[in-house]
Amino acid sequence: MTVTANFMTADGEKHTVTVSPGLTLMEAAVSNMVPGIEAECGGALACATCHVFIDPTWLSKTPAKSDGEIGMLEFAAGVQENSRLSCQIKLTEELDDIVVHIPSTQY
Ligand code: FES
Repeated sequence: MTVTANFMTADGEKHTVTVSPGLTLMEAAVSNMVPGIEAECGGALACATCHVFIDPTWLSKTPAKSDGEIGMLEFAAGVQENSRLSCQIKLTEELDDIVVHIPSTQY
């Protein structure tokens, strides 16, 4: 089984990637060269360059933020209610076909 994730750029480009479940959203993006997800710290919750906006239709399905993620999000630009660090979201079957938006400040 695989999980699909859709990354939308601010100019409307859609990057759809399919990966094994258990990878994070960030790992799915980086391994498929999706633009705008630099993930400088490699998922160690120390950079905020993996910032994404969760599409409103998927907000209720994404797991809650940890205190560490909330703290690191303060370093991201243009943070909104639906901001998340993509290295903290594991792609599970429940999140199959998730849609996230890449902040225009990141590419
Ligand atoms: S990759 Fe650095 S905080 Fe997510």
